Amino acid sequence: MSDTAKLELDGRTLELPVIVGTEGERALDIRELRNQTGCISYDESYGNTGSCQSAITFIDGDKGILRFRGIPIEELAEYSSFVETAYLIIYGHLPAQVQRQRFSALLTEYQTIHEDMKFHFEGFPSSAHPMAILSAMINAASCFIPELTRNYDPVAFERIAARLISQVRTLAAYAYRKSHGLPSIYPKRKYAYTQNFLHMMFSSPDEDYEIHPAVLKALDLIFLLHADHEQNCSTSTVRMVASSRANLFASAAAGVCALWGPLHGGANQAVIEMLKEIQETGDDGSRFLEKVKRKDGEHRAKLMGFGHRVYKSYDPRARIIKARCDEVLEQLGVHDPLVDIAKKLEETALRDPYFLERKLYPNVDFYSGLIMQAIGIPLDMFTVIFAIGRMPGWIANYKEVIEDPGGRIYRPRQIYQGRALNHYTPSDIRC
Ligand code: CMC
Repeated sequence: MSDTAKLELDGRTLELPVIVGTEGERALDIRELRNQTGCISYDESYGNTGSCQSAITFIDGDKGILRFRGIPIEELAEYSSFVETAYLIIYGHLPAQVQRQRFSALLTEYQTIHEDMKFHFEGFPSSAHPMAILSAMINAASCFIPELTRNYDPVAFERIAARLISQVRTLAAYAYRKSHGLPSIYPKRKYAYTQNFLHMMFSSPDEDYEIHPAVLKALDLIFLLHADHEQNCSTSTVRMVASSRANLFASAAAGVCALWGPLHGGANQAVIEMLKEIQETGDDGSRFLEKVKRKDGEHRAKLMGFGHRVYKSYDPRARIIKARCDEVLEQLGVHDPLVDIAKKLEETALRDPYFLERKLYPNVDFYSGLIMQAIGIPLDMFTVIFAIGRMPGWIANYKEVIEDPGGRIYRPRQIYQGRALNHYTPSDIRC
């Protein structure tokens, strides 16, 4: 295979090196393009652009493969836990026992937020979306960490990263309780990561929430499955902000904002809203699918939870969640008619040329909302759960950016299509 590509322009030939990834995927290195030709590349929405070289996550979207640090997602889902997978993603290897203990101890050490942070929660209206509160509060939390303003130091970073993973869960639970007018519940040292989150969400000051093992297992799995997903919109946002040398908390707060949108993490909430709408109109899904195919309606309805920029086959996370969703519903004795509608929609869509030709398959969000609904997570917390899960991925990507010795600030260019030179007109002679 060729290790350079030739580009001919204006009678000159430019040789572009071909970069090959460890899984054989190839990229044209165009870093010299503008210097040598005066041209830039144009790739709106970055479908063909590799913005970095990364060693964290590998996806083969055609084959439906997802691996964290080389380990298939199916193996992690079966044998690992969210905390162990978080360590793997951030530090590049599974933790030895002593490393795992240290990591867990740091998560426990930092689980309680500064008492003054509570005043910040007071300022939000009760109608505030928990994602808005979460993003604001992650930023606010940075004000309580003086080390964040110092130069990057890998030893201090270990503590800062653990603090973010630990506190995002506390902030998320407080955000939920605030937006529902409930008193906040402190974390308990005796609980592990996911247990503690459920406790802070659902216990009351006078009674501890009894955690069903099936609920705990399902939520831990959801966190794990969301732990990283290479250069998606929010992770790219985190890397972009990190490249300016902003601190980890500020970069993660920006990631939360990017994740919130319905085309990204907000899709898990949008799926349930879509399924409810289908149910309320007495449709079995077929009328809705026709509307989607006609690209009808004010917002050109989409089948939420379907399609992906990278996966052109079944999202492996969706496959795992779908199987677990059935198990959890059975263990909890829940029958949710929305699950029947979802399955019917999937079955119909996967036989329909519109979806087949465009290679639109269920993504992680199609079934994750259903499982969250079954275990009692409120609808407006679905995307927050995604954000908690994604934190290790954002931290690992942040670390890659900051530790890259040749790293430069991210700064795309544009093709200007506005007016040519135009002069200022004094206000009295403007028509
Ligand atoms: N329903 C109906 N049509 C769709 C859908 C969908 N869910 N997704 C894509 N299409 C159509 C799209 O209209 C286009 O049609 P045409 O060729 O006629 O113009 C074609 O498929 C190609 O789509 P695209 O716009 O090039 O896809 P994209 O890579 O820009 O967008 C996506 C990817 C995930 C934003 C999109 O598939 C989508 O909006 N899906 C629904 C929202 C969703 O489930 N998002 C969660 C993504 S996975 C988790 C995450 O990232 O957070």
